[in-house]
This record gives sequence, C-alpha cells and structure tokens, in this order.
Amino acid sequence: MEFAPENLTLTKVLQASFQQLNDAVINRKSPMRCPVVATIGKNGPNQRIMVLREFDEDHRIMRFHTDFRSPKVDEIAKNSAISILGYDPEQRIQLKIYGAAQIYNESARATGAWLQTDTMGRRCYLCEPGSGTKISAAKSGLSKALQSRRPTIEETEAGRKNFAILMINIHQIDWMYLNSQGNLAASFHFDNNAWVGEWLIP
Ligand SMILES: Cc1cc2nc3c(=O)[nH]c(=O)nc-3n(C[C@H](O)[C@H](O)[C@H](O)COP(=O)(O)O)c2cc1C
Repeated sequence: MEFAPENLTLTKVLQASFQQLNDAVINRKSPMRCPVVATIGKNGPNQRIMVLREFDEDHRIMRFHTDFRSPKVDEIAKNSAISILGYDPEQRIQLKIYGAAQIYNESARATGAWLQTDTMGRRCYLCEPGSGTKISAAKSGLSKALQSRRPTIEETEAGRKNFAILMINIHQIDWMYLNSQGNLAASFHFDNNAWVGEWLIP
C-alpha cells in the first residue's frame, strides 16, 4: 500500500497497522509475524524474536507462546513494560508497539492455546532442562528419540506444564513509513477508551 501525505488520515494509518498485525497472525510469510519482543532485564533491555499468535484489535491484545521456564518470564514478573518491534521491508513500514505484559501458565486461555498447538509446536516444551539453563556442551534438550520425529499427542502432555502464553495489553502504536519523497510517522495512544493519534516528523 502506498501512503501519500496529501489525503492520508490518522484513521487510515491505524486501520492499516491493524490490518498488518491481523495478516501477520495468519500469513507465515509476513515479516511482522516474527517481531522483536523487548523486556527490561536485570542488565537493561533484553530482546528476542517471537511468533505472533494472536492480535485482537478490539481488546488491544497480542498473544505469544513461550516456555514458562524461560528467563523472560521472570523479567516480566518483575517489570511488565514491554515493546514489540517489526519491520516490513516490502511495505516499508516499521511498527513499534508498547504495552503491559502478563504471563499465564495455568489459565483457561493458556490451555486453549495449548490445545491449538500442534505436536511439532508442542515439542519445544518437552526440552529438559528449561530454556535458558546453562549446560556444559551444545544440545537442544530434546530426548534422543524425539530429535528425529514428531511426538505423539500423549508424549506432548508432559510439556503442558512448561507452556505459557504472553499476553500484551497494547497502549501505544508508533507507525513509520519509509518513502523516497520523504518519510512519514504517526503515534497512537489509547486514552480514555479511544485511540488518539498524532503525526510526527519521522
Ligand atoms: C524465528 C524465531 C522464532 C521464535 N519464536 C519464539 C516464540 O514464539 N516464543 C519464544 O518463547 N521464543 C521464540 N524464539 C526464541 C527466542 O528468540 C529466545 O531465544 C528464547 O525464547 C529465549 O528467550 P529469553 O531467554 O529472553 O527468555 C524464536 C526464535 C526465532 C529465531
């Protein structure tokens, strides 16, 4: 989509951003599907790539899946501030999203997400010990038997306790568009039950 400044509105930009995030959830080729997710770690900012599993524009929610034993879980428990960064080189759009994060391991929603995860996706949660554990030589943590095959549904059940969802309550979306005739930028804040946008010099 081309964005010419003459007849561009903040509403159009916000709707296009929502569309991009909705597409990221269903389109494996979308670069926004694997954004950078940044938390505040004990030594400052900490980033990692994660797969966007759900975007709900009405409730301003993003969902990611993660290992309940991974270091980010502890970081989020200590500081819920989170930022998500994606760039689509074809559309030349950068989205910076800010929100508050929460991790759920036992909730009904986490169970729902687990039920929707196929056996290959569930296999990550069968690694022992947990994500981030220091070990003496390179290894995945998967048992030898599971290294070369898909686990059975019964085998995956042991991974349920290690599976968690990361839910993000979005309160700001920053949009930036690269263009040879001049870049454009806008910022949207959720204030008093509505999105309020403003244009920025990029
Ligand atoms: C393409 C790609 C997709 C990834 N998807 C996820 C994901 O959906 N969830 C996740 O927890 N980690 C995912 N990872 C691994 C993370 O980037 C990170 O290395 C891991 O979660 C440990 O993060 P932490 O030590 O900050 O907790 C992915 C990595 C890559 C390269």
